[in-house]
Amino acid sequence: MGLKNKLFLGTFVHSKALDELEYLHNAAVCVDMSGTIVAVEVECDELRARETVLPRLGWEVAEVEVVEAKEGQFFFPGFIDTHLHASQYPNIGIFGKSTLLDWLNTYTFPLEASLSDPVKARQVYTRVIRKTLSHGTTCAAYYATIDVPSTNLLTDLCLSHGQRALVGRVCMDQLSPDYYRDASADASLAATRASIAHILRADPTMSLVKPIITPRFAPACSLPLMRQLGALARETSLPIQTHISENKSEIALVKDLFPPSATGAADDSYASVYDAAGLLTDKTVLAHAVHLTEAEADLVSARRAKVSHCPCSNSAITSGAARVRWLLDKGITCGLGTDMSGGYSPSVLETARQAALVSRHVVMGANGLAPGEEREKLSVEEVLFLATRGGAEVVGLEGRVGGFEVGMEWDAQLVGLGMIGEGGEVEGEEDEGGDVDVFGWESWPDRVAKWLYNGDDRNTKKVWVKGRLVHQRK
Ligand code: GUN
Ligand code: FE
Repeated sequence: MGLKNKLFLGTFVHSKALDELEYLHNAAVCVDMSGTIVAVEVECDELRARETVLPRLGWEVAEVEVVEAKEGQFFFPGFIDTHLHASQYPNIGIFGKSTLLDWLNTYTFPLEASLSDPVKARQVYTRVIRKTLSHGTTCAAYYATIDVPSTNLLTDLCLSHGQRALVGRVCMDQLSPDYYRDASADASLAATRASIAHILRADPTMSLVKPIITPRFAPACSLPLMRQLGALARETSLPIQTHISENKSEIALVKDLFPPSATGAADDSYASVYDAAGLLTDKTVLAHAVHLTEAEADLVSARRAKVSHCPCSNSAITSGAARVRWLLDKGITCGLGTDMSGGYSPSVLETARQAALVSRHVVMGANGLAPGEEREKLSVEEVLFLATRGGAEVVGLEGRVGGFEVGMEWDAQLVGLGMIGEGGEVEGEEDEGGDVDVFGWESWPDRVAKWLYNGDDRNTKKVWVKGRLVHQRK
């Protein structure tokens, strides 16, 4: 909870629409003690804010905390990472030449299993929260592990560090190693209920952390388990997260494991398996969706399920190039996921950059795709929309976070670029702007493009969630 009313002054940049960023200069945003935006004023300097806006709000001027974006700085909504594995953080960058199924067995399951050690879990989960916050991730949809106590710990750490999160205890009762598998569908369901109960005790109004039902992916879940989790989602109205159509061998495995004769679905597609189990809802976050067929994408769209696009991961473990424009054209809501540690980076900014680049591979016809059209390309504005407003919709927080509007919560980052003086030196600290040098003559859209393509955590100066300062760069 932010303890004071706050007045933010300067330039604010946020998405208005998929292809439109809005730039508010000399603006003032007032955030009350609960972390809610109560006023957005343009053409408003500190004096005017003190004389007109704060009295209108009935705020005691002397008790308001003022945060000003300096020259070269701007406020931007916090990033929303719609898909990442908190438990895999120690493995980022470690994937060799593996592809999904061998990557899981070689790198991932042993690490996840080892986090049942509470000391190790605390070390890893503390670090992943700190690290993602330092990259401006104010909200994360986390997969933990199958272990309930350490999943509970992840929840507690999100709350104590102030990161907004969806926390999912991973369900997997088949086709996984003996040392890392739920004993049965019933045991998996019971453990899921226990982890949900913990979250609801720790944050009864789900003001910051929310449970998310997490069948790992179809190959690792029996049909009875998937059906029970689908029923649990209906009973609780909770969101669901899983993986879909990431890799061709995985898709073949799903066809083998779940014939329509078993699922009762009309066909043997991956999406139909989830649909038959009741897992394709308007609160379902589907990671990857690289190889969906036309009919599957139509089904996902009809169910209003969401997609987490994970370009860093899809390139790293050679899964393919998701056709985001095609998904968007079908009316499917998309956001971005780092998918650590399939993805090699904790940064949503890096993921946005890769989303822009991978969309160009689609145009070039890479990865067996027919060459696409120029309009497959995602612009700077579009990938930053996916990283904020799109992500908010994917995780069910639209209207609450992702932009700067009255009534929304203040989940934001202060971004600083390196302003270059007349002598060619950076004004301020030497690494002030990281790799982003701004000479002052660039337009604001060009500055933001420079940030997207060359920025990193050195540019993330301060981060707030629900009005609380949760990261500050030293
Ligand atoms: N499919 C099933 N589990 C995983 C996972 O941990 N990461 C990714 N990228 N895909 C998966
Ligand atoms: Fe994943």
